[in-house]
Amino acid sequence: MSGMTTRTEPVVERINELRTKRQAVILVHNYQRGEIQDIGDLVGDSLELSRKAARTDAKVILFCGVHFMAETAKILSPEKMVLMPDPNAGCPMANMLTLRELKNKKAEHPEALVVCYVNSAAEIKAESDICCTSANADKIVASIPEHKEIIFIPDKSLGDYVARKVGRELILWPGFCPTHHRILREHILQQKKAHPAAKVIVHPECTRDVIGLADAVGSTSQILRFARETAANEVIVGTENGMLYRLAKENPDKKFYPASPVADCPNMRLNTLEKVFWSLEDMVYEITVPEDVAARARGAIERMLELS
Ligand code: 13P
Ligand code: SF4
Repeated sequence: MSGMTTRTEPVVERINELRTKRQAVILVHNYQRGEIQDIGDLVGDSLELSRKAARTDAKVILFCGVHFMAETAKILSPEKMVLMPDPNAGCPMANMLTLRELKNKKAEHPEALVVCYVNSAAEIKAESDICCTSANADKIVASIPEHKEIIFIPDKSLGDYVARKVGRELILWPGFCPTHHRILREHILQQKKAHPAAKVIVHPECTRDVIGLADAVGSTSQILRFARETAANEVIVGTENGMLYRLAKENPDKKFYPASPVADCPNMRLNTLEKVFWSLEDMVYEITVPEDVAARARGAIERMLELS
């Protein structure tokens, strides 16, 4: 060690002291800033983080991600205090479907089951039969008897990908991730031209056009696994650009290229190391879910966890 002090060291020390004092666990999504990933007790995709939230012994869960993730943690661990460093970190896709719209859709298809991507509000999960994440959406859909109609909410791109993969017709909702939809087919073609030996992996929130050009499709943790296991030394990555930090850190001998330089999620960027510290110091911002809503939403999330 050179003995040099980096900008982040003092705040990291104070976060560590408070983490112990508050008996807190810090859960961090793969899209978060690198300096936040570095202090996470668990850094992962939505499915891994839900599993961890369901079985931690900590008194407090500090969730560094976006609102629906913290809500999911609260639903699975109602006796724990769940905090977010910035309460404004929402998910635009989750906001593209209201409870009234879902009830109307269900009334149009009274026999259908509702499969709900976890990128959704608690009250939407409460009105759904089973949840899924991008890591298990195909397995969840395939587990439903063939004769059953399925309404898949709210991501039309993930729904379209799963429908084609599993060979099932799904009733889709027109929600989408604005960040992943910024990645265009042209971006992938340009990057492939610039790096002809590179493999392409994209997230299933991307458009069908983009998915059609990929060698592999997966959740953020599936992208990490692909990067580790591929024989290729170069990988073009079609997802939110926060992913590049962990990919580079875990694979120093490989090169990763963002499919698009503009695929940043402004909500994911709202969290900073300072806000993590303030959150543990002031015990803010607490996320709550009314118990009747939580109980029904828990059923949909637990059915998913049992199946995956
Ligand atoms: P995953 O980590 O489950 O792939 O989630 C992607 C996402 O968009 C979260 O906001
Ligand atoms: Fe929502 Fe997309 Fe941001 Fe994830 S990356 S939080 S899906 S807007």
